[in-house]
Formats: sequence, structure tokens, C-alpha cells
Amino acid sequence: MWGGRFADGPSAVMREINASIPFDKRLWRQDIAGSKAHARMLKAQGIVGAEDADRILEGLDAIEKEYEAGGLVENLALEDIHMHVEARLAELIGPAAGRLHTARSRNDQVAIDFRLWVRDAVDAIDAGLAAFQRALLTRAEEHAATIMPGFTHLQVAQPVTLGHHLMAYFEMAKRDRSRFADARARMNESPLGAAALAGTSFQLDREATATALGFARPTANSLDSVSDRDFALEFLSAAAMTGLHLSRLAEEIVIWASQPYGFISLPDAFSTGSSIMPQKRNPDAAELVRGHSGRLLGAFQALAVTMKGLPLAYSKDMQDDKEPAFQAYDTLALCLAAMTGMVETLTFNTDRMRAAAAGGFSTATDLADWLVRVAGVPFREAHHITGRAVKAAEDAGVPLPDLPLATLTAIDARIDDRVYEVLSVEASVASRTSFGGTAPDGVRARIADARREIG
Ligand code: ARG
Repeated sequence: MWGGRFADGPSAVMREINASIPFDKRLWRQDIAGSKAHARMLKAQGIVGAEDADRILEGLDAIEKEYEAGGLVENLALEDIHMHVEARLAELIGPAAGRLHTARSRNDQVAIDFRLWVRDAVDAIDAGLAAFQRALLTRAEEHAATIMPGFTHLQVAQPVTLGHHLMAYFEMAKRDRSRFADARARMNESPLGAAALAGTSFQLDREATATALGFARPTANSLDSVSDRDFALEFLSAAAMTGLHLSRLAEEIVIWASQPYGFISLPDAFSTGSSIMPQKRNPDAAELVRGHSGRLLGAFQALAVTMKGLPLAYSKDMQDDKEPAFQAYDTLALCLAAMTGMVETLTFNTDRMRAAAAGGFSTATDLADWLVRVAGVPFREAHHITGRAVKAAEDAGVPLPDLPLATLTAIDARIDDRVYEVLSVEASVASRTSFGGTAPDGVRARIADARREIG
């Protein structure tokens, strides 16, 4: 395709380092779609005669069917997907195939193909995130009033509801989806027609190809069009952030499934055994999601480092843009499916959760708040008094609600028996009625809103 000024062919190793077909064959649908839009526009503009243009379009249809049925035959000498399609077109329709590349370069061709692919990837990940959100909503609704310990520093802090805890991940997924949507809107411009870097002398209709391929408009600068990979970086950055969120939930699943916690049991379908310890049930899927999130962060890093030193416009380094995006997409889609499956099927051991919530003097803040509200004690002093009550309970080996009133009044005479109304874990969560708090009614209201939001 470019051998005119060369006397010798490339060495075998040159061929190997140069070829991207082993991975960019994944872009064949996008490549054919881009070529069809280009061919139709060349015809409409009278740049290629109607007869040749129609043969090109028929040939592209035939190649599409062929690849659909049997994939393509890789040939390293043909470098990439763009040359594979064009070479096959020449085999099928003869010299007319040579007119397709008029007013086009592989530089704008790869830019359009890859954008189309990333745009589809965004849509698929968005659907995966929506499914994950629906799974969270279902379980949160079931457990809007189930009590579990809330932690800070992984120490029991205050009781919360399990529904509230699960809905925290719903909010993260909501932000993840908005990052993908934001990136999608920005990437939705067509670089086709930028040609190699400077634009072209042919009278193209870039609006027409943009519209045909579902883009909002053509890109405004030909140099930027062929050297911009922000769209892939934004995809990878949103993917890395989503992976980070999934990894935090995965970590909680691993902790909760451990015997000392026993908060959850994973079904057989999401557990693995040990080849030596017959009793084991391991949360491998959660561990792998946690592990894979590192690869997602790595994919962003890989492309960012590739791009950061490149002068305008195209350099072959940019051929390395595809594998991180392909791998990140595959990894994230799988992680989302695994997390959705785990959330849907795991069993919450609610007795264990409630017992753990009642431990660790988790309603101490409720006692301090009561002293402020009912007895008019300044919060700092209430904190100190409560600390002494916790110490007394610890010494007596009882939970806070079981401390005798005499012990409490000996610590501070302003305490009376109404205090017992706030010391249970149920009373504690029910009292957290501030907007966004853990009270079951508030959680139910948020779930109802969330259902409307995701439709
Ligand atoms: N396979 C190349 C890539 O993925 C296509 C663009 C090649 N352009 C060129 N001038 N060599 O980036």
C-alpha cells in the first residue's frame, strides 16, 4: 500500500513490531462502518463516480458478512485492520477499491474507528453499571432496617442500616455513570476528514459523515483530530475509578465473609474451595475484582505515559492506545458482572451483624447526644461523662444499655431513666433522621428516589 518509494521489503522483525492486526482486528466493524460512511459521502460529493462507489459499498457489505461468519485471516504484511479491509476489497472488486482511500488517511481512519469502539464500550459499561445499581437497590430495599455496625478505622463506630451501607455503593456507581456519560458527550465528534494531519483539498462533507456515524458534529482542528486520544484516556480514567469503587466493595465482601466477621455467606456459585483444606470456601471472585482494579489503574497509566511526550500530530506510538482500552473494557465488564452476581446472591447473616453492631459501645454517641439534648450539658462535657460510662460498662463487662441506672447517676446526677430510650441500636439508627442519614425511613426514601433516577 505504501511501497512505491521502497526498493526492499521490511525485515521480519520490522513486520512484527509494526503490525497491529493481532489486536486491532477487533475494530473491523467500526472500520467497515467508517469506510461506508466515507464512500457514501465521496459519492454524494461527486468525488468518486456512482458506479465505483456502489461497487465499493457492495464489496464492504460482502466483507462484513465474511468477517461475521468466519473472522479474518491475519497477514502481518498488511499491518492493520485498515489495510486488511482495503486489500480484501481490492481482491473482491478490483481497481475501484483504490478510490476508497481518496481524501482519507489511516490517521483519521484509526481515529474514527477507535472513537466508535470506545463509544460502544462506554454504552456497554453503562448498562453493566445500571445492572449493578439495580442489584444494590434490591438488596438495600430488603435490608432498609437491618442493623449492622458502621465502622471508622475498621473499629465499630455507630450502628447503621445495611440498606444505607449498600446505598453508599449505589451513589458511587451513579457518579461513575455520570463520568462515562460526560466523557461520551465530549468524545462524540467525528475526526473523519482530517486526513493525514492537515485536512484535504477535496470538497468533503464532514457533517454528513459525522451524522451518518452518530456523531454530534465534526472535530474542529485536523491536527488535534488525528493526535487526540483524550477520549480513550477519559474512558480509562472513568474505568479506573469504577474499578476502585468495585474494589472497595470487594474488600468488604472478603472481610465480611471471613469467619471472625461472619456477616455474609457467599453461595457456591461465587465461592471456590481449597485443594488441601476441605473446609475452605474462599471469596476468590471478590479477591479478583480487588486485584483487577490494579490493572484498570495500570491501563490508564500506560496510555497516559504513551501520550504525554508526543509532538503533534500522529506518531506510531499511538498504535499502543488500543490494547489498554480493550483490556480495561474486558476486565471491567467482567468485574461488574461478578460483583452484580455476588450482590444478588450473597446471604446476609443479620443476627451476626446486629450482635456486632451492639458491641463496642456503639451507642455511646447517643448517650452523649442525650445529655446535650435532654440535660442541657455542653457537648464536650457530655463526651467526657459518656467516656466514664463506657469505662464503667467495660469494667462491668456489660453493653451500655445494661448498665444499672445507679451506676449512671453516680457518674452524673443529671442522668435519669429516660436515657435507656436512646441506648439500643434500633433507637440509635431510627434517630439518624438528618438528610442522607441512616434512619430506615430515610434509606427507604432514597431508594425510592434512586429507582426513579435509574428508571
Ligand atoms: N495501525 C495504526 C494505528 O493503530 C493506524 C494508523 C497508521 N498510520 C500511519 N501513518 N502509519 O495507529
